[in-house]
Amino acid sequence: MYTLGIETSCDETGIAVYDSKFWENDQPPHLGILGQSLYSQVKMHEEYGGVVPELASRDHVKRILPLIKSCLNEAGMTISDIDTIAYTKGPGLAGALLVGSSVAKGLSFALHKKSIGIHHLEGHLLSPLLSENFQHSNPKDFFPFLALLVSGGHTQIMMVKAIGDYTILGETLDDAVGEAFDKTAKLLHLPYPGGPAVSELAATSISNRFKLPRPLIHSKNLDFSFAGLKTAVLTQIKQAEKEQVEFDASFKADLAKAFVDAAVDVLQSKVAFAMQQTNCYRLVVAGGVGANQQLRQKLSELENKLPNCQILYPPTHLCTDNGVMIAFAATLRLLQNNMAFDTSNAFDVSPR
Ligand code: KG4
Ligand code: ZN
Repeated sequence: MYTLGIETSCDETGIAVYDSKFWENDQPPHLGILGQSLYSQVKMHEEYGGVVPELASRDHVKRILPLIKSCLNEAGMTISDIDTIAYTKGPGLAGALLVGSSVAKGLSFALHKKSIGIHHLEGHLLSPLLSENFQHSNPKDFFPFLALLVSGGHTQIMMVKAIGDYTILGETLDDAVGEAFDKTAKLLHLPYPGGPAVSELAATSISNRFKLPRPLIHSKNLDFSFAGLKTAVLTQIKQAEKEQVEFDASFKADLAKAFVDAAVDVLQSKVAFAMQQTNCYRLVVAGGVGANQQLRQKLSELENKLPNCQILYPPTHLCTDNGVMIAFAATLRLLQNNMAFDTSNAFDVSPR
């Protein structure tokens, strides 16, 4: 079964073809990626300091068909070889989602194919199974596992018992961690997108000049809160202004480091608590912030400390939004027979 995946929830147009036989035959799951194409609008939104929804939708319209063509070319296929067309149904920007769903439903209607809407976070959640470092003899044996989902819109810890069986164990009460990275970047006058910029700048500092709070780190639950951490960054900047401390490169790097240290400390501590509570020591990390090197370093300490602990990340290029994760999640759902195909041609996306 060949599945075409279409992702247009935000500012990336991602397309991929996935071949189900690799999962069915217990072969390394990443080998099932037959083709992938991606266009990032990041340059276009850069000058506005964030994603402009209307520009995003219009750009998806412009890119999507050529990207589908080039992806099918890479896979050595034509659209008629595809069995199912999967698209991101939500959450995301309504207009952007409508582009992907319209194309998916239009193609499936015209070509008598089936289409299926996929939850964006389910795509992220399952994408670490595509890791090239996946050591497990049978990928299906990796279940059950915990998932740390860290993106611009979400910070959640989930229990994944099986495909489609997900329980949220804890989540952020306010800002997502990616959002805190992006807001901190703005405060430090760093370019958009903020996450990688803050992370790179933080890596240049070895100072412990600032000590920022670690919100909810000792709470006996799996909830997060990152709004106060961002405010603590602002407070340091205001304090420095008052004391006429220079807002120079080393000040910014030291503050970025303090922010990253605090954020990854909280994430590590909550993951450790989740492992202890559930007695489940397998973890996948997904979403844009999963690309963060300091976070990976910090979580690897758990692997060294806890004998059964195993952590899996998606390949770096699949940490941020992409079509592969949508094609893959749809494939796993369809193989399990636990998700229905679309029955109507109505454009029903779920932005929230
Ligand atoms: O999953 P994603 O591509 O989009 C959604 O939010 O669904 O995640 C984007 C988020 C942004 O907040 C971005 O700043 C953050 O992930 N991000 C990072 C890094 N790369 C992306 N944050 C920290 N370090 C990174 N290397
Ligand atoms: Zn995402």
